[in-house]
Amino acid sequence: MRPLNIDLTQQQRQGVINLLNLNKDLSDAYLLVVKTKKFHWDVVEPQFHSLHQIWEEQYEQLTENIDAIAERIRALGGYPIGTMKGFLKNGTLKEQPDEVPTTIGMAALLVDDHEQIIRNLREHIDRRAEQFHDRGTADFLTELVEGHEEMAWMLRSFIEGQALEGDNSQPATEKKTPVGV
Ligand SMILES: [Fe+2]
Repeated sequence: MRPLNIDLTQQQRQGVINLLNLNKDLSDAYLLVVKTKKFHWDVVEPQFHSLHQIWEEQYEQLTENIDAIAERIRALGGYPIGTMKGFLKNGTLKEQPDEVPTTIGMAALLVDDHEQIIRNLREHIDRRAEQFHDRGTADFLTELVEGHEEMAWMLRSFIEGQALEGDNSQPATEKKTPVGV
């Protein structure tokens, strides 16, 4: 990147601080794509067809988000995290390696994750706009929020539909032998 010839040290320091939150958003997007894929693989009948398809569409959307966030970081002069270790260290989502959730439990865990990401993104949007006057990135993050709201809505609708059918008697998660850990 072409070096700035004024106030370089301060600019560089500011740049690093500015991009921490975007790398956090990138890390959470990576964690969520892994979790979404896992449930796409694990889901069983009778909801297999609907959720297998929904989760495929969602992990494809999340994969596009990941690329867009990483390229946004580069456009702002930074470097995206590119290691699994880094994603785990910087992300805010929690993995559940020892649980095989029920189908409703899978959907509920992902709703929680989408909501966590939405809360983080809203905070980051405010900071980009107010503290850094970076309206472009704030708008970009707002689009991501809208995508997560839509994905969470689809999963909530599924959970509510199951409840109406009286199929919500299962616990949200059940402990079984860990699979794929
Ligand atoms: Fe697949």
